[in-house]
Amino acid sequence: MPSSPAMLSPSPFPPDQLDGIKRLVAGSTPEQRQWLSGYLAGYLAASGGAAVAPAPAAPAGPKTPVTILYGTESGNTETLAGAVRKSAQRLGFAPKVLDMADATPEQLASAGNVIVLASTWGEGDPPQRAESFYAALMADTAPQLPDLRYAVLALGDRAYANFCEIGKRIDERLATLGAKRIADRADCDVDYEAAAKTWIDGTLRDLQGETGAAVIHVDFAKPAHADDDAETWNRNRPFEAEITAAVNLNSSRSTSETHHIELTLEGSGITYEPGDALGIVPTNDPQLVADVLKLSGLTGNAGVEEALAERLDITTLIRDQIGKYAAITGNAELSAIAADADRALAFMRDRQFVDLLAAAPAALAPEQLTDLLRPLPARLYSIASSRALVGDEAHILVGAVNWESYGRKRKGVASGYLAERTAPGKHVKVYVKPNTHFRLPADQAAPVIMIGPGTGVAPFRAFMQGREATGATGRNWLFFGARNYLHDFLYQLEWQDWAKSGQLTRIDLAFSRDQREKIYVQNRMWDARRDLFAWLEEGASVYVCGDAKAMAKDVQDTLLSIIADQSGGGEEAATTYLRGLTKAGRYLKDVY
Ligand SMILES: Cc1cc2nc3c(=O)[nH]c(=O)nc-3n(C[C@H](O)[C@H](O)[C@H](O)COP(=O)(O)OP(=O)(O)OC[C@H]3O[C@@H](n4cnc5c(N)ncnc54)[C@H](O)[C@@H]3O)c2cc1C
Ligand SMILES: Cc1cc2nc3c(=O)[nH]c(=O)nc-3n(C[C@H](O)[C@H](O)[C@H](O)COP(=O)(O)O)c2cc1C
Repeated sequence: MPSSPAMLSPSPFPPDQLDGIKRLVAGSTPEQRQWLSGYLAGYLAASGGAAVAPAPAAPAGPKTPVTILYGTESGNTETLAGAVRKSAQRLGFAPKVLDMADATPEQLASAGNVIVLASTWGEGDPPQRAESFYAALMADTAPQLPDLRYAVLALGDRAYANFCEIGKRIDERLATLGAKRIADRADCDVDYEAAAKTWIDGTLRDLQGETGAAVIHVDFAKPAHADDDAETWNRNRPFEAEITAAVNLNSSRSTSETHHIELTLEGSGITYEPGDALGIVPTNDPQLVADVLKLSGLTGNAGVEEALAERLDITTLIRDQIGKYAAITGNAELSAIAADADRALAFMRDRQFVDLLAAAPAALAPEQLTDLLRPLPARLYSIASSRALVGDEAHILVGAVNWESYGRKRKGVASGYLAERTAPGKHVKVYVKPNTHFRLPADQAAPVIMIGPGTGVAPFRAFMQGREATGATGRNWLFFGARNYLHDFLYQLEWQDWAKSGQLTRIDLAFSRDQREKIYVQNRMWDARRDLFAWLEEGASVYVCGDAKAMAKDVQDTLLSIIADQSGGGEEAATTYLRGLTKAGRYLKDVY
C-alpha cells in the first residue's frame, strides 16, 4: 500500500470527512486514483478554478424556495426566467416561475425570496401584460414586504431615454416596501445575454449565502447558466437563409416602401408558429461605415472596417458616448453637452453616432473607436407566413425606414440592408423569436378580430394561412389601414381572395389619405362598434399589431369606448371588461 502523501497545508475538511477521503484513497487501485485525479482536475477547470470553487455540499434538507417573477413583452425576460429556474434547480433551490401577468404584490409578501426580471417598453412603460401588477406594486395600497429578499435584473435598450426604467422603479419600490435587496440590480442593454447570465450566477450564489440554502446537487460539469439548447439557432448562432423572393408591395407612386421577403429555411430544422417573429442579423450601410472611418481617421483599417460593417452599432447615439468622446477629444463644447441632461437629450434628437464624430472629428486609435460602440442588435420581423401552407419557408414584411436630418440622408439599419443590399439568391442571417403570447386561439371555432395597419398586417397573413391550412372554422375579421388604397393596400389580392372564399368573414379598410379627413383603423372600429362588441360577446379574441406609439394606444382607447358604449356600463365597466379579456388571453398585442 502506498504511504500517505505529505500534507502541504492544513486540511479544509472536518476530521470525519478527511478520514473518509483517506480511506477512499488508501483502498483504491492506481487506476482508480488516476481517474480520481483526472476527475478533480476536470472539475476544477469546469468550475473556473479554485477562485470560483462552488459552495460545499451540505446535507440534504428542505429546499429553499425562490420565486422568479418576470415581466415581458417580446419574451426575453421570460427566456431568462427559464434560465434562472434551471440554475436555481441545479443549485438546490426550489424555484417557481411567475409571470407578472398572473401575479399580485400580495403574493410577494409570503414568497421569501424573489428574483425579478423586468423589461421596459413604450417610453419607459412596463410590458403590457405586466401593467396591472406594476400599477398595484406602485399603488399606496401595496403591502409592506419586510420578509422578502429580492434582486432585480432589468432589460432595456440604451437607445431609449428611459433606459431600464421599469427595472429601476421596481428595484426602488421593493426597497421602499421594506424588502431586503440581496444583490445590486443589473441594467442590461440589447446584448444582455452574457451580462444577464453572470448576474444570475452571482445572484443565486449570493442568495445561497443569505439563506444558508442547502445545496442538494450541483452539476459542476456545466456553469450554472449552461444553455441546454446549444444546437438551436439564435442571435449568436443565426442560420444563413437564402432569399427566394423579394418584392416591394407598394406601387411606384406610393410614399412608402414595404418589402415582402421570402426565405427558405430548408436544412435548418427551424420551426415556427403564426405569431412568432424572425430575427434578422443585419450589416451596416457601407457608405456610413466609410463615413465613420473617415471622421475618425481610420480609413483603410480593414479590421475596424469589418467590425463596423458586421458587428458594431454605428447608428444609435447613446448619451454615454457623448461624454466618452468628449474626454477622448478634449472637446469642451461636447463636455458641456454631456454634463447637462437636457442639452444632451436635445443634441441626441435626430442625430446618430456619425454626427457626434462630425461635431469634432479626431484621429482615433482603433480601439478608441470600437470601445465607444455597442454590439449591433438584431431586428425582429413578424413572420407573415404559416408553415402549414409554405413548408420550410418564412415570409416577412419590412417597412423601409428613411428620413433626413442635419443635411444627412438616414436609413434604417436592417430595413435598409434588406431593401437595398439583399436580393433573391443572397443569404441572410436569421433565427426565430417565438412569441407564445401572440397565438391563434386553441379553439379552431373561436372568432378572431385582427387589427393591423401598415406592417402590422404581417402576422395576420400568417394567421389566415394557418387557419386556412388547418381547416379552422372560426370567423376572421381584419381591420387594415394605410395611406392610399391604390398604392398601399398590402397583400390586396390575398385578402380579396380570402374574402371571396369566405375564409375572411369581414374586412374593414381605412385609407387615411384617400379623402380630406384622415381615417384610421380606430375610426372603422368605431363605425363597426355594434358588430365588434357582438363578436366580443361571442368569444372573439382581439389581436393588435403594428405601431406602438400612436396606433396601439388609439385602438385601445377606441375598444374601451366601444365596450362602454355597447355594454352601457360606462368607463369603469369597460376597463374591467378589457382587463378580463387580457387575463383570458383574448386581447393580445404585438406592437413595436
Ligand atoms: C416583435 C417585433 C415585430 C416587428 N415586426 C415588424 C414587421 O413585421 N415589419 C417591420 O417593418 N418592422 C417590424 N418591427 C420593427 C423592426 O424590428 C425594426 O425596428 C424596424 O424595421 C426598424 O429597424 P431598422 O434597423 O430598419 O431601423 P433603425 O436603424 O433601428 O432605425 C429606426 C430608428 O431610427 C430613428 N428614426 C426613424 N425614423 C425617424 C425620423 N423620421 N426622424 C428621426 N428619427 C427617426 C428612430 O430612432 C427609430 O427607432 C418589429 C419589431 C418588433 C419588436
Ligand atoms: C417598441 C419598443 C419600445 C421600447 N422601449 C424601451 C424603453 O423605453 N426603455 C428601455 O430601456 N428599453 C426599451 N425597449 C427595449 C426592450 O426593453 C428590450 O428589447 C428588452 O430586451 C425586451 O425584453 P422582453 O422581451 O422581456 O420584453 C423597447 C423596445 C421596443 C421594441
